Amino acid sequence: MGIKATWLSHSGFQLEIGSHKILIDPFLSGSQLAPTSADDIEADFILITHGHGDHISDTPAIAKRTGATVVGMVEIAGWVSNQGVESTVGNNMGGGMDHGFGRVEFTPAWHSSSLPDGSYGGMPAGIIIFADGLTIYHAGDTALFSDMQLIGDKGIDVAIVPIGDFYTMGPDDSIKAVNYLKPKFVLPMHYNTFPVLQQDAAAWADRIHKETGAEPIVLDPGGAHEF
Ligand code: NI
Ligand code: MN
Repeated sequence: MGIKATWLSHSGFQLEIGSHKILIDPFLSGSQLAPTSADDIEADFILITHGHGDHISDTPAIAKRTGATVVGMVEIAGWVSNQGVESTVGNNMGGGMDHGFGRVEFTPAWHSSSLPDGSYGGMPAGIIIFADGLTIYHAGDTALFSDMQLIGDKGIDVAIVPIGDFYTMGPDDSIKAVNYLKPKFVLPMHYNTFPVLQQDAAAWADRIHKETGAEPIVLDPGGAHEF
């Protein structure tokens, strides 16, 4: 069957798993690089790593229009529910559940997580998706941390890691993260969206080739890869 992953710019991805469309951290109305509009994107599920606006701001509108179920940490689910979204699932760190297309599980991330209105967003998270025989790890916004080795022990096929620096780890630490995670494939995210996040993704991919065992996949916004 395969899983098709489309980069929506920033930390946003759309995964097509069988007949399901799953969004992770869609940030479309505020991203100059977004390839599509929050008014057009389709979703059955929206997975959210943390409460910052560049990850959650479009989610209430997309979920209300599409009827998508929003899955996040319990505080994130509560906030989204308060915005009028009908279907939400609130997990907590290390937990998860099966959603039909596969299992979604939440991992630690070293970051912060206030919501757009300033309310408490709980702990920021990374997300692991087990679906169609593949294990996909979206690190969320995070610094490098050595427990990424424990996440790597799950057997990661596809890792998606921030490389933008400033708010998250940058290219140097992302190389170390990939060596902890040991994925087959790695995609960069959270870069080039804003002036402070400018990075050379081709140079990063070169280093991934030379300094890790992973295969880098650099997508343009709107670009897709099938796993
Ligand atoms: Ni953030
Ligand atoms: Mn962010």
